[in-house]
Amino acid sequence: MASLGTRLAATCCAVVMGGALASVAFAASPNLAPKELVIKRGYTEEASKCLSCHAEKTPGIIESWKEGKMGHANVSCYDCHVVDKDSPMASQCTGLKGTKTFISPMVSGKTCSRCHPSEYDEFLKSGHADLSRDAVYDEKKAGGALVALQLHHEGGEWMGVEKGSATNTASRFSGCTVCHGSEVQLGPDNKPINATWPAGVGTLYPDGSVGTCTVCHTRHRFSVAEARKPEACASCHLGPDHPDIEIYLESKHGQIFQTQGEEWKWDSAPGAWQPGDYTAPTCAVCHMSGIGELETTHNVNDRLKWDLMHKRSEIRSGVRGDGVKGDKLMRKVCVNCHGDSAIDNNRLLLDNSVALYNAYWDKAVKMKADLKDKGLLKKDPWRDGYQELMYYLWHHTGRRARQGSAMNGPDYAHWHGFFQMFQVLKDMEDIYNWRIKNNKIEDLSTVMSPGPV
Ligand code: HEC
Ligand code: HEC
Ligand code: HEC
Ligand code: HEC
Ligand code: HEC
Ligand code: HEC
Ligand code: HEC
Ligand code: HEC
Repeated sequence: MASLGTRLAATCCAVVMGGALASVAFAASPNLAPKELVIKRGYTEEASKCLSCHAEKTPGIIESWKEGKMGHANVSCYDCHVVDKDSPMASQCTGLKGTKTFISPMVSGKTCSRCHPSEYDEFLKSGHADLSRDAVYDEKKAGGALVALQLHHEGGEWMGVEKGSATNTASRFSGCTVCHGSEVQLGPDNKPINATWPAGVGTLYPDGSVGTCTVCHTRHRFSVAEARKPEACASCHLGPDHPDIEIYLESKHGQIFQTQGEEWKWDSAPGAWQPGDYTAPTCAVCHMSGIGELETTHNVNDRLKWDLMHKRSEIRSGVRGDGVKGDKLMRKVCVNCHGDSAIDNNRLLLDNSVALYNAYWDKAVKMKADLKDKGLLKKDPWRDGYQELMYYLWHHTGRRARQGSAMNGPDYAHWHGFFQMFQVLKDMEDIYNWRIKNNKIEDLSTVMSPGPV
């Protein structure tokens, strides 16, 4: 993230590049209080046409756009939606038929990058970009198991629903891609089809660009204040497999947010939001916002040490980030409000919780290898009690224990986490012992779907 000074300069040039505005001047007060933007010239004729017609046809869009900072700065429909005639996404709305202007309803992060280049670069390096979409599309990942989950099992292919049909893909496009992002498909008129748009954070657009910035800064207000609130993350980070919002609301930090948050100052200038504006951290404070020595980042992987989502927790490396550095950065968040003793104890507790979870996982892996050797695993893991439970051990209870511990939600760490982990592993051990003793697989799955919730 650039310093406030360089950001002002960069934004200024970018606006001019954006095309709609010719002369823009910024006046920032010397103490870096919220900057003021003075627009010396209004909209081009074409840009004002979009506005006046849409004010009548889609007043909801205009009203929220007007409320936002970019609306005030005269960044208009034209700047974000007009595309080259040759763009694979080029089409025309009812109001533009017969003109030379082409638009697209699809707007990826690349459009924003014209004026916000550093935010986009950081975002592209994060798990929110390609990794997020690959988690749903990559055939190679986990031996195609994920694609099988969405289409074969949940999509009903296994019971005869036609492969590739709209019925078959309904589960993918109503669930997975809404959070993770889709690969947008186009119809003959270059408009998106097959429920592949609008979609989640790592969406791949037909021009090869990636990213839906509006998952946190919803359209058409694009508010920074909104993205700082925990609700901005909660539409995806919730539920039995990654209950981050539930954990947060039950933590001390969440208690303070819920009891005092209404008095906090949410709309400080970008990068200038600091303790005092708030008294306890939100998701954004710990994972993204500038605080103390740290600058804002749109790479949510930057401040993480462990990988707490995959089957075995390891220190982050490669595309997942740099865990050693991540540990140091996360501590720099805490030092703004806590002393070393509290921070050291808390970070050690996370390491210990990861070690305990890994011990459970390793035991499950060992028993599974044994069963496999002896031919005592079913081919379909979803009809095999041992393998079903192993999924819940990792994907539900094990994530809750690890993430509950990381973010200080004792109820999730314990009752929804470690407590259920030991129950699940004991059941797995019973199945294992039974199969080894009888040298066969029990006829019916012993697990009642949906398993431990
Ligand atoms: C700062 C960029 C920006 C500006 C300014 C902007 N939009 Fe958008 N608009 C977006 C983004 C981003 C989306 C979501 C696109 C996506 O998910 O691919 C969107 C989506 C839309 C959609 C499709 C969504 C739907 O529910 O049908 C319409 C229509 C639209 N914008 C109209 C407008 C109009 C009219 C204006 C002018 C008042 C405007 N936009 C200004 C960025 C912008
Ligand atoms: C004379 C009226 C009029 C003008 C001028 C106009 N629009 Fe539209 N626009 C509409 C109407 C009506 C719709 C909804 C029906 C449709 O999608 O064609 C629409 C739809 C859209 C959509 C969504 C298209 C989709 O496929 O869902 C976008 C984006 C959009 N307009 C942007 C613009 C931009 C940008 C401009 C200026 C360059 C503009 N419009 C000028 C009337 C207008
Ligand atoms: C043509 C240039 C331009 C484009 C394109 C653009 N922005 Fe902006 N954006 C600006 C300017 C200028 C400001 C500063 C307004 C201010 O601070 O008064 C801004 C401010 C913002 C803010 C801060 C708002 C706040 O509440 O403080 C966010 C968030 C933002 N833009 C997101 C986006 C997203 C997302 C896109 C793409 C969908 C986008 N921008 C595209 C020029 C642009
Ligand atoms: C409610 C939003 C949501 C839905 C629906 C959803 N996910 Fe996720 N998914 C997430 C979040 C958030 C994470 C990050 C979890 C974490 O940090 O523990 C994640 C993590 C993952 C991961 C691990 C990350 C990786 O890159 O390996 C995979 C794989 C995955 N999801 C696949 C899927 C599939 C397949 C579906 C549909 C069958 C799906 N998800 C549905 C939100 C969702
Ligand atoms: C995961 C949520 C999330 C996503 C996705 C996201 N942002 Fe942000 N964004 C934030 C938060 C939180 C802040 C506020 C940082 C702070 O406290 O100052 C912010 C701040 C901003 C700002 C204000 C300047 C700054 O950097 O602080 C701009 C501009 C911006 N975002 C643009 C974008 C663009 C462009 C994208 C897409 C490439 C995007 N954002 C995607 C959460 C998000
Ligand atoms: C539209 C859904 C969505 C929203 C909103 C969202 N996320 Fe995510 N987030 C995801 C998905 C999906 C993943 C898993 C990505 C992957 O496959 O690695 C993820 C992953 C993460 C990760 C782990 C990084 C990694 O290794 O992938 C962090 C940290 C994170 N998100 C924080 C946030 C915060 C903080 C916010 C709010 C400011 C937020 N997210 C908003 C969907 C979302
Ligand atoms: C007090 C700071 C703090 C707050 C507030 C916070 N987190 Fe975290 N978060 C952490 C820490 C610490 C970790 C573990 C980091 C590590 O591995 O060192 C973490 C890990 C994560 C992960 C990564 C899980 C993985 O699979 O590796 C996600 C996703 C996440 N947080 C999302 C959120 C969301 C969403 C919110 C708000 C609802 C939130 N966090 C609130 C500190 C925080
Ligand atoms: C903006 C200030 C702020 C930041 C940043 C912050 N905390 Fe806190 N934290 C608080 C406040 C205030 C409390 C409530 C103290 C009380 O219970 O009286 C608290 C409570 C806690 C608690 C509950 C135990 C206790 O001290 O009462 C833990 C654990 C905790 N924080 C860990 C962390 C960790 C780890 C980080 C960094 C990842 C962090 N906090 C970042 C303000 C902050």
